[in-house]
Amino acid sequence: MKDEHCVAFLQWALPHLELHWPGFRKVRRQVCRRLKRRMSELGVPGFSDYRDYIADHPEEWSVIDAFCYITISRFLRDKNVFRVLGDVILPEAAQRAAAEGRDVRCWSAGCASGEEVYSLKIAWERLARARAPDICFSIIGTDIDETVLRRAETGCYERSTLRELPVESLNECFVRKGESYCVRREFRDNISFQLQDIREVLPVGPFDLILCRNLVFTYFARSLQERTLERIATCLQCRGVLVIGAHETLPAGAVDFRPELECREIFRWLPVRPECPMDRG
Ligand SMILES: C[S@@+](CC[C@H](N)C(=O)[O-])C[C@H]1O[C@@H](n2cnc3c(N)ncnc32)[C@H](O)[C@@H]1O
Repeated sequence: MKDEHCVAFLQWALPHLELHWPGFRKVRRQVCRRLKRRMSELGVPGFSDYRDYIADHPEEWSVIDAFCYITISRFLRDKNVFRVLGDVILPEAAQRAAAEGRDVRCWSAGCASGEEVYSLKIAWERLARARAPDICFSIIGTDIDETVLRRAETGCYERSTLRELPVESLNECFVRKGESYCVRREFRDNISFQLQDIREVLPVGPFDLILCRNLVFTYFARSLQERTLERIATCLQCRGVLVIGAHETLPAGAVDFRPELECREIFRWLPVRPECPMDRG
C-alpha cells in the first residue's frame, strides 16, 4: 500500500473525527501502520474497500480514533519552558496560593507516560520548593490511553526518554532498576493519573497551571480547539497559566490568554470578569 493512498484516506477520515491533517503529517507512518494492520485483520484489501466497510460499520470510527493517539513524549521537552516554570511561574503561584491559604494545583492534559508530570514535579522540587516550603503542590495527569497511564503510574523509563535531564537531576530524582530509571518516591508525592477523554471530561479545577502540549493544538480541528480551550479556561484560577507546545499556537479568538514573559508557549488567563478583579497588565 502506498503512502499517498494512506494520506488520501487520512485527509478524508480525520475531519470526520474533528482531527486536523497537518498535525498528523509527520507522524502519519505510525497511524498508517495501525490502519494497515487493522485492514488486514478485517480482510479488507484497499482504502476504498475500507471506506465501504466504515459506511456499513459506523462503530469503526472509534477504532480509527484510537489509531490517532500519538503518545510520544520525553522528560523536560522544551527545556526553557520548565526553566521559566520553575524559576518564575511556580514560585509566583505558590506565593498567591499561600496568600489565599490554599494548595498549588496543576493539570497535565494528555500526559502520555507521565514524562511531563514528573518533569514538572522535578522543576518544583529543584527550583521552587525552597521558596514555598509549606505549600502543598499537586499534579493530576490525564490521558485517553490506558496503557500509557499504567506506565505513568509505574514511573520507570528508558534512558533515551531522559536524555534532556542534566546528570545531577537524573541521579537525584531516579533510581536505576536494571535498564530502567524509576522516579524516586520523594518525587511522586501528590501526583495522580486519570483516564479521561478531554473532548468529554475535564478534571475538577481550579488549577494554577495547565499544561496542554502536543495534543489539542496539534491534532484537533480548529473548531474543536476553540471549544476545548473554552472548557479548559473554566478550569483555571484567575490569573492561572496555560502552557502549549513549542510548535503550537492558540486559536485566533483566545483574547483572554496573554503571552507571558519571554516564553511563547506560556499564557496567563486574564478574563474580564467580576470574579477575577485583577489588573490585565
Ligand atoms: C504527543 S502526546 C503529548 C505528551 C505530553 N503532553 C508532551 O507534550 O510531551 C499526546 C497524548 O495525548 C493523548 N490523547 C490523545 N487524544 C486524547 C484525548 N481526546 N483526551 C485525552 N488525551 C488524549 C495521547 O494518548 C497522548 O498520550
